[in-house]
Amino acid sequence: MPNKEMLLIPGPTPVVDEIYEALSRETMSHTDMRFAGLFSEALSLTKKMFNTDGEVFVIAGSGTLSMEMALINTVAPGEKILIVSHGYFGDRFIGVANSLGIEAEALVSEWGRQVSPQAIDEKLQEGGFKAVTITHVDTSTGVMSNLEELVPIVKKHGALFILDGVCASAGLEEDMGKEYGNPDYKIDVVLSASQKAIGVPPGLAIVAFGLKALAERKKFSKVGSYYADINNWIHIMNEPQRYFATHPINMIYAYHQAMKIIEAEGFRERYTRHTALGKAIRSALRSYGMSILAKEEVAAPTLSCILYPSGLEDSKFRAALADKGLIVAGALGPLAGKGFRLGHMGNTSNHTFIQALRVIGETLEEQTGKVDINKAIEIFKSVFEEYNRT
Ligand SMILES: Cc1ncc(COP(=O)(O)O)c(C=O)c1O
Repeated sequence: MPNKEMLLIPGPTPVVDEIYEALSRETMSHTDMRFAGLFSEALSLTKKMFNTDGEVFVIAGSGTLSMEMALINTVAPGEKILIVSHGYFGDRFIGVANSLGIEAEALVSEWGRQVSPQAIDEKLQEGGFKAVTITHVDTSTGVMSNLEELVPIVKKHGALFILDGVCASAGLEEDMGKEYGNPDYKIDVVLSASQKAIGVPPGLAIVAFGLKALAERKKFSKVGSYYADINNWIHIMNEPQRYFATHPINMIYAYHQAMKIIEAEGFRERYTRHTALGKAIRSALRSYGMSILAKEEVAAPTLSCILYPSGLEDSKFRAALADKGLIVAGALGPLAGKGFRLGHMGNTSNHTFIQALRVIGETLEEQTGKVDINKAIEIFKSVFEEYNRT
Protein backbone atom coordinates (compact mmCIF):
# COMPACT_ATOMS: atom_id res chain seq x y z
CA MET A 1 0.00 0.00 0.00
CA PRO A 2 1.38 3.45 -0.84
CA ASN A 3 1.44 6.02 1.94
CA LYS A 4 -1.80 7.91 2.33
CA GLU A 5 -1.84 11.34 0.76
CA MET A 6 -2.18 14.44 2.90
CA LEU A 7 -5.66 15.38 1.74
CA LEU A 8 -5.81 18.93 3.08
CA ILE A 9 -8.56 20.33 0.89
CA PRO A 10 -11.66 21.89 2.49
CA GLY A 11 -13.38 18.52 2.44
CA PRO A 12 -13.44 15.66 2.06
CA THR A 13 -10.94 15.49 4.91
CA PRO A 14 -8.62 12.60 5.83
CA VAL A 15 -10.52 9.53 7.01
CA VAL A 16 -8.95 7.72 9.96
CA ASP A 17 -8.54 3.94 10.02
CA GLU A 18 -11.25 3.32 12.65
CA ILE A 19 -13.76 4.96 10.31
CA TYR A 20 -12.56 2.99 7.27
CA GLU A 21 -12.87 -0.18 9.35
CA ALA A 22 -16.43 0.72 10.32
CA LEU A 23 -17.23 1.47 6.69
CA SER A 24 -16.01 -1.93 5.58
CA ARG A 25 -17.99 -3.98 8.13
CA GLU A 26 -20.50 -6.48 6.77
CA THR A 27 -23.66 -4.82 5.51
CA MET A 28 -26.71 -5.68 7.63
CA SER A 29 -30.37 -5.45 6.81
CA HIS A 30 -31.68 -1.92 7.14
CA THR A 31 -34.41 -3.28 9.43
CA ASP A 32 -32.02 -5.21 11.71
CA MET A 33 -32.39 -4.11 15.34
CA ARG A 34 -28.59 -4.21 15.77
CA PHE A 35 -28.28 -1.62 13.02
CA ALA A 36 -31.17 0.41 14.45
CA GLY A 37 -29.45 0.50 17.86
CA LEU A 38 -26.23 1.78 16.35
CA PHE A 39 -28.02 4.39 14.23
CA SER A 40 -30.02 5.58 17.26
CA GLU A 41 -26.82 6.03 19.22
CA ALA A 42 -25.30 8.05 16.36
CA LEU A 43 -28.42 10.25 16.25
CA SER A 44 -28.34 10.82 20.03
CA LEU A 45 -24.72 11.90 19.77
CA THR A 46 -25.70 14.25 16.94
CA LYS A 47 -28.44 15.76 19.12
CA LYS A 48 -25.90 16.14 21.89
CA MET A 49 -23.41 17.86 19.57
CA PHE A 50 -26.04 20.37 18.40
CA ASN A 51 -27.60 20.48 21.88
CA THR A 52 -31.11 20.30 20.50
CA ASP A 53 -34.35 18.95 21.89
CA GLY A 54 -35.75 19.00 18.34
CA GLU A 55 -35.06 16.35 15.70
CA VAL A 56 -31.98 15.38 13.73
CA PHE A 57 -31.97 13.76 10.30
CA VAL A 58 -29.08 11.82 8.80
CA ILE A 59 -29.86 10.58 5.31
CA ALA A 60 -28.08 9.63 2.11
CA GLY A 61 -27.19 12.79 0.23
CA SER A 62 -24.77 15.68 0.34
CA GLY A 63 -24.72 19.13 1.90
CA THR A 64 -26.76 20.55 -0.95
CA LEU A 65 -29.63 18.23 -0.03
CA SER A 66 -29.32 19.52 3.56
CA MET A 67 -29.69 23.07 2.24
CA GLU A 68 -32.86 22.06 0.40
CA MET A 69 -34.24 20.21 3.42
CA ALA A 70 -33.67 23.23 5.64
CA LEU A 71 -35.59 25.55 3.31
CA ILE A 72 -38.32 23.32 1.92
CA ASN A 73 -39.55 22.33 5.38
CA THR A 74 -39.66 25.80 6.85
CA VAL A 75 -40.38 28.27 4.04
CA ALA A 76 -43.30 27.94 1.61
CA PRO A 77 -43.09 28.91 -2.06
CA GLY A 78 -43.82 32.63 -2.36
CA GLU A 79 -42.52 33.41 1.14
CA LYS A 80 -39.40 35.54 1.41
CA ILE A 81 -35.99 34.86 2.93
CA LEU A 82 -32.82 36.86 3.41
CA ILE A 83 -29.55 35.25 2.34
CA VAL A 84 -26.38 36.49 4.00
CA SER A 85 -23.51 35.46 1.77
CA HIS A 86 -19.78 35.49 2.43
CA GLY A 87 -18.90 33.69 -0.78
CA TYR A 88 -19.69 30.86 -3.17
CA PHE A 89 -21.64 28.68 -0.74
CA GLY A 90 -23.65 31.54 0.70
CA ASP A 91 -24.64 32.39 -2.87
CA ARG A 92 -25.74 28.79 -3.43
CA PHE A 93 -28.82 29.46 -1.27
CA ILE A 94 -30.01 31.87 -3.98
CA GLY A 95 -30.17 28.99 -6.47
CA VAL A 96 -31.79 26.66 -3.95
CA ALA A 97 -34.44 29.26 -3.03
CA ASN A 98 -35.13 30.04 -6.69
CA SER A 99 -35.66 26.41 -7.56
CA LEU A 100 -38.09 26.03 -4.65
CA GLY A 101 -40.10 29.10 -5.63
CA ILE A 102 -39.00 30.96 -2.51
CA GLU A 103 -38.46 34.68 -2.89
CA ALA A 104 -34.90 35.54 -1.95
CA GLU A 105 -33.03 38.73 -1.26
CA ALA A 106 -29.30 38.55 -0.68
CA LEU A 107 -26.74 40.63 1.14
CA VAL A 108 -23.41 39.65 -0.36
CA SER A 109 -20.05 40.65 1.08
CA GLU A 110 -16.89 41.34 -0.81
CA TRP A 111 -14.89 38.07 -0.83
CA GLY A 112 -12.87 37.76 2.37
CA ARG A 113 -15.11 40.11 4.31
CA GLN A 114 -18.37 39.84 6.23
CA VAL A 115 -21.73 41.43 5.62
CA SER A 116 -22.06 44.08 8.32
CA PRO A 117 -24.53 43.30 11.12
CA GLN A 118 -26.00 46.80 10.64
CA ALA A 119 -26.81 46.02 7.00
CA ILE A 120 -28.61 42.84 8.08
CA ASP A 121 -30.52 44.69 10.77
CA GLU A 122 -31.58 47.42 8.35
CA LYS A 123 -32.66 44.92 5.71
CA LEU A 124 -34.75 42.95 8.21
CA GLN A 125 -36.47 46.15 9.33
CA GLU A 126 -38.17 46.19 5.92
CA GLY A 127 -40.17 43.22 7.24
CA GLY A 128 -41.64 40.10 5.68
CA PHE A 129 -38.61 37.81 5.94
CA LYS A 130 -39.56 34.30 7.07
CA ALA A 131 -35.97 33.12 7.54
CA VAL A 132 -32.36 34.17 7.22
CA THR A 133 -29.68 31.82 5.91
CA ILE A 134 -26.15 32.24 7.17
CA THR A 135 -23.12 30.16 6.24
CA HIS A 136 -21.13 29.45 9.40
CA VAL A 137 -17.87 29.12 7.46
CA ASP A 138 -17.86 29.88 3.77
CA THR A 139 -15.60 27.30 2.18
CA SER A 140 -14.63 29.63 -0.66
CA THR A 141 -13.21 32.37 1.55
CA GLY A 142 -12.49 30.92 5.00
CA VAL A 143 -14.67 33.64 6.53
CA MET A 144 -16.54 32.68 9.69
CA SER A 145 -19.84 34.26 10.73
CA ASN A 146 -20.14 35.64 14.23
CA LEU A 147 -23.14 33.91 15.82
CA GLU A 148 -23.03 36.01 19.00
CA GLU A 149 -23.66 39.08 16.90
CA LEU A 150 -25.99 37.65 14.25
CA VAL A 151 -28.43 35.42 16.15
CA PRO A 152 -29.89 38.30 18.24
CA ILE A 153 -30.28 40.52 15.18
CA VAL A 154 -32.15 37.88 13.19
CA LYS A 155 -34.29 36.67 16.08
CA LYS A 156 -35.22 40.18 17.18
CA HIS A 157 -37.00 40.48 13.82
CA GLY A 158 -38.83 37.18 14.32
CA ALA A 159 -37.14 35.33 11.43
CA LEU A 160 -35.89 31.75 11.57
CA PHE A 161 -32.11 31.42 11.87
CA ILE A 162 -30.89 28.79 9.40
CA LEU A 163 -27.20 27.98 9.73
CA ASP A 164 -25.16 26.21 7.06
CA GLY A 165 -22.68 24.19 9.11
CA VAL A 166 -21.27 22.10 6.25
CA CYS A 167 -17.77 23.52 6.75
CA ALA A 168 -18.10 23.98 10.51
CA SER A 169 -20.04 21.25 12.35
CA ALA A 170 -17.80 19.35 14.79
CA GLY A 171 -15.11 22.00 14.32
CA LEU A 172 -16.96 25.02 15.73
CA GLU A 173 -19.69 25.22 18.35
CA GLU A 174 -23.22 25.12 16.91
CA ASP A 175 -25.31 25.04 20.05
CA MET A 176 -29.04 25.14 19.29
CA GLY A 177 -29.94 25.17 22.99
CA LYS A 178 -27.94 28.30 23.64
CA GLU A 179 -29.86 31.49 24.35
CA TYR A 180 -28.20 34.42 22.67
CA GLY A 181 -29.19 37.08 25.18
CA ASN A 182 -32.90 36.15 25.31
CA PRO A 183 -34.69 32.80 25.88
CA ASP A 184 -36.22 33.05 22.39
CA TYR A 185 -32.99 33.86 20.58
CA LYS A 186 -31.77 30.48 19.40
CA ILE A 187 -30.50 28.88 16.19
CA ASP A 188 -33.48 27.14 14.52
CA VAL A 189 -31.84 24.87 11.94
CA VAL A 190 -28.29 23.62 11.44
CA LEU A 191 -27.62 21.84 8.17
CA SER A 192 -24.47 19.92 7.50
CA ALA A 193 -22.71 17.05 5.74
CA SER A 194 -20.39 14.20 6.65
CA GLN A 195 -17.20 15.00 4.74
CA LYS A 196 -15.62 17.94 6.54
CA ALA A 197 -14.94 18.40 10.26
CA ILE A 198 -16.97 15.27 11.05
CA GLY A 199 -14.38 13.24 9.14
CA VAL A 200 -16.54 10.73 7.24
CA PRO A 201 -16.37 10.34 3.44
CA PRO A 202 -18.94 12.35 1.45
CA GLY A 203 -22.43 10.87 1.27
CA LEU A 204 -24.52 11.96 4.25
CA ALA A 205 -26.81 14.93 4.60
CA ILE A 206 -27.22 15.94 8.26
CA VAL A 207 -29.87 18.41 9.42
CA ALA A 208 -31.00 19.45 12.90
CA PHE A 209 -34.36 21.18 13.37
CA GLY A 210 -35.22 22.97 16.59
CA LEU A 211 -38.79 23.00 17.92
CA LYS A 212 -39.72 26.28 16.25
CA ALA A 213 -38.54 25.01 12.85
CA LEU A 214 -40.43 21.73 13.33
CA ALA A 215 -43.57 23.73 14.09
CA GLU A 216 -43.20 25.53 10.75
CA ARG A 217 -43.30 22.23 8.85
CA LYS A 218 -46.51 21.31 10.70
CA LYS A 219 -48.19 24.38 9.23
CA PHE A 220 -47.79 23.07 5.65
CA SER A 221 -50.08 20.30 4.39
CA LYS A 222 -47.33 19.22 2.00
CA VAL A 223 -43.95 20.32 0.63
CA GLY A 224 -42.58 20.13 -2.90
CA SER A 225 -40.37 17.11 -2.35
CA TYR A 226 -40.95 13.54 -1.26
CA TYR A 227 -37.41 12.58 -0.24
CA ALA A 228 -36.57 15.91 1.47
CA ASP A 229 -39.83 16.12 3.44
CA ILE A 230 -38.95 15.71 7.11
CA ASN A 231 -42.45 14.38 7.80
CA ASN A 232 -41.43 11.24 5.93
CA TRP A 233 -38.33 10.86 8.09
CA ILE A 234 -39.26 11.84 11.66
CA HIS A 235 -40.64 8.45 12.66
CA ILE A 236 -37.72 6.71 10.91
CA MET A 237 -35.14 8.72 12.83
CA ASN A 238 -36.92 7.77 16.05
CA GLU A 239 -37.16 4.10 15.08
CA PRO A 240 -34.47 3.49 12.44
CA GLN A 241 -35.55 -0.14 11.86
CA ARG A 242 -38.63 1.20 10.08
CA TYR A 243 -38.56 1.81 6.33
CA PHE A 244 -39.04 4.95 4.31
CA ALA A 245 -36.01 4.72 2.00
CA THR A 246 -33.10 2.31 2.41
CA HIS A 247 -30.47 3.66 4.81
CA PRO A 248 -26.87 3.95 3.58
CA ILE A 249 -25.93 1.23 6.08
CA ASN A 250 -22.14 1.33 5.82
CA MET A 251 -22.04 5.12 5.81
CA ILE A 252 -24.06 5.05 9.03
CA TYR A 253 -21.51 2.63 10.56
CA ALA A 254 -18.84 5.17 9.61
CA TYR A 255 -20.87 8.08 10.94
CA HIS A 256 -21.51 6.26 14.21
CA GLN A 257 -17.78 5.68 14.60
CA ALA A 258 -17.05 9.33 13.79
CA MET A 259 -19.53 10.56 16.40
CA LYS A 260 -17.91 8.27 19.00
CA ILE A 261 -14.50 9.73 18.12
CA ILE A 262 -15.88 13.27 18.42
CA GLU A 263 -17.53 12.52 21.77
CA ALA A 264 -14.37 10.86 23.09
CA GLU A 265 -12.28 13.89 22.16
CA GLY A 266 -14.88 16.14 23.85
CA PHE A 267 -16.92 18.73 21.96
CA ARG A 268 -15.31 21.69 23.67
CA GLU A 269 -11.81 20.23 23.36
CA ARG A 270 -12.39 19.58 19.67
CA TYR A 271 -13.56 23.14 19.00
CA THR A 272 -10.57 24.52 20.88
CA ARG A 273 -8.20 22.26 18.95
CA HIS A 274 -9.64 23.52 15.67
CA THR A 275 -9.29 27.16 16.74
CA ALA A 276 -5.68 26.56 17.79
CA LEU A 277 -4.91 24.67 14.59
CA GLY A 278 -6.31 27.42 12.37
CA LYS A 279 -4.32 30.11 14.17
CA ALA A 280 -1.14 28.01 14.17
CA ILE A 281 -1.17 27.09 10.49
CA ARG A 282 -1.98 30.64 9.40
CA SER A 283 0.82 32.11 11.56
CA ALA A 284 3.29 29.61 10.13
CA LEU A 285 2.25 30.30 6.53
CA ARG A 286 2.55 34.05 7.08
CA SER A 287 6.18 33.46 8.03
CA TYR A 288 6.63 32.07 4.49
CA GLY A 289 5.48 35.42 3.07
CA MET A 290 1.96 34.25 2.31
CA SER A 291 -1.07 36.25 3.34
CA ILE A 292 -4.51 35.15 4.48
CA LEU A 293 -7.63 36.37 2.74
CA ALA A 294 -9.77 36.68 5.88
CA LYS A 295 -8.76 38.98 8.71
CA GLU A 296 -7.70 36.95 11.75
CA GLU A 297 -10.81 38.01 13.78
CA VAL A 298 -13.09 36.38 11.20
CA ALA A 299 -10.77 33.62 9.95
CA ALA A 300 -12.28 30.16 10.30
CA PRO A 301 -10.92 27.39 12.52
CA THR A 302 -11.65 24.84 9.77
CA LEU A 303 -10.07 26.18 6.57
CA SER A 304 -8.06 29.07 5.24
CA CYS A 305 -7.82 30.77 1.88
CA ILE A 306 -4.13 31.62 1.48
CA LEU A 307 -2.84 34.18 -1.00
CA TYR A 308 0.48 33.64 -2.76
CA PRO A 309 3.48 35.91 -2.48
CA SER A 310 4.43 37.39 -5.84
CA GLY A 311 6.22 35.11 -8.26
CA LEU A 312 4.32 31.89 -7.58
CA GLU A 313 2.39 30.25 -10.36
CA ASP A 314 -0.72 28.53 -9.00
CA SER A 315 -0.97 25.37 -11.08
CA LYS A 316 2.79 24.75 -10.99
CA PHE A 317 2.87 25.23 -7.20
CA ARG A 318 -0.10 22.98 -6.46
CA ALA A 319 1.12 20.32 -8.89
CA ALA A 320 4.50 20.25 -7.11
CA LEU A 321 2.74 19.88 -3.74
CA ALA A 322 0.64 17.04 -5.14
CA ASP A 323 3.79 15.28 -6.41
CA LYS A 324 4.98 15.28 -2.81
CA GLY A 325 1.66 13.91 -1.52
CA LEU A 326 0.08 17.15 -0.32
CA ILE A 327 -3.28 17.90 -1.90
CA VAL A 328 -4.67 21.40 -1.48
CA ALA A 329 -7.52 23.11 -3.34
CA GLY A 330 -7.39 26.06 -5.70
CA ALA A 331 -8.94 29.38 -4.79
CA LEU A 332 -12.37 30.02 -6.30
CA GLY A 333 -14.14 32.81 -8.18
CA PRO A 334 -12.31 36.13 -8.31
CA LEU A 335 -9.37 34.61 -6.43
CA ALA A 336 -8.71 31.72 -8.81
CA GLY A 337 -4.97 31.51 -9.54
CA LYS A 338 -4.10 33.92 -6.72
CA GLY A 339 -3.97 31.46 -3.86
CA PHE A 340 -5.01 28.11 -2.49
CA ARG A 341 -7.41 26.76 0.09
CA LEU A 342 -6.15 24.57 2.91
CA GLY A 343 -8.52 22.51 5.04
CA HIS A 344 -7.47 22.10 8.67
CA MET A 345 -10.37 20.20 10.13
CA GLY A 346 -11.62 16.82 11.19
CA ASN A 347 -9.59 13.96 12.57
CA THR A 348 -6.20 15.34 11.68
CA SER A 349 -2.97 15.18 13.62
CA ASN A 350 -0.50 18.02 14.08
CA HIS A 351 2.22 15.81 12.56
CA THR A 352 0.35 16.06 9.28
CA PHE A 353 0.48 19.85 9.38
CA ILE A 354 4.14 19.89 10.32
CA GLN A 355 4.79 17.64 7.33
CA ALA A 356 2.59 19.89 5.16
CA LEU A 357 4.58 22.95 6.27
CA ARG A 358 7.79 21.18 5.30
CA VAL A 359 6.43 20.30 1.86
CA ILE A 360 5.13 23.83 1.28
CA GLY A 361 8.47 25.31 2.43
CA GLU A 362 10.52 23.01 0.18
CA THR A 363 8.30 23.81 -2.80
CA LEU A 364 8.61 27.54 -2.16
CA GLU A 365 12.39 27.13 -2.07
CA GLU A 366 12.30 25.30 -5.41
CA GLN A 367 10.04 27.86 -7.05
CA THR A 368 10.83 31.25 -5.45
CA GLY A 369 13.72 31.26 -2.98
CA LYS A 370 14.91 30.48 0.52
CA VAL A 371 12.42 30.29 3.38
CA ASP A 372 12.95 29.27 7.00
CA ILE A 373 11.16 25.93 7.36
CA ASN A 374 12.29 25.24 10.93
CA LYS A 375 11.09 28.66 12.03
CA ALA A 376 7.66 28.06 10.44
CA ILE A 377 7.37 24.74 12.28
CA GLU A 378 8.39 26.37 15.56
CA ILE A 379 5.74 29.07 15.05
CA PHE A 380 3.14 26.40 14.33
CA LYS A 381 3.97 24.49 17.51
CA SER A 382 4.10 27.49 19.79
CA VAL A 383 0.89 29.12 18.51
CA PHE A 384 -0.90 25.78 18.73
CA GLU A 385 0.25 25.33 22.35
CA GLU A 386 -0.81 28.87 23.21
CA TYR A 387 -4.40 28.44 21.99
CA ASN A 388 -5.09 24.77 22.63
CA ARG A 389 -6.18 25.34 26.21
CA THR A 390 -9.70 24.58 27.35
C1 LIG B 1 -20.48 25.74 3.36
C2 LIG B 1 -20.96 24.73 2.36
N1 LIG B 1 -22.28 24.61 2.16
C3 LIG B 1 -22.77 23.71 1.30
C4 LIG B 1 -21.93 22.89 0.57
C5 LIG B 1 -22.52 21.90 -0.38
O1 LIG B 1 -22.24 20.62 0.09
P1 LIG B 1 -22.09 19.36 -0.89
O2 LIG B 1 -20.98 19.64 -1.82
O3 LIG B 1 -21.82 18.23 0.07
O4 LIG B 1 -23.40 19.22 -1.59
C6 LIG B 1 -20.56 22.97 0.74
C7 LIG B 1 -19.64 22.12 -0.01
O5 LIG B 1 -18.44 22.19 0.08
C8 LIG B 1 -20.07 23.92 1.66
O6 LIG B 1 -18.76 24.05 1.86
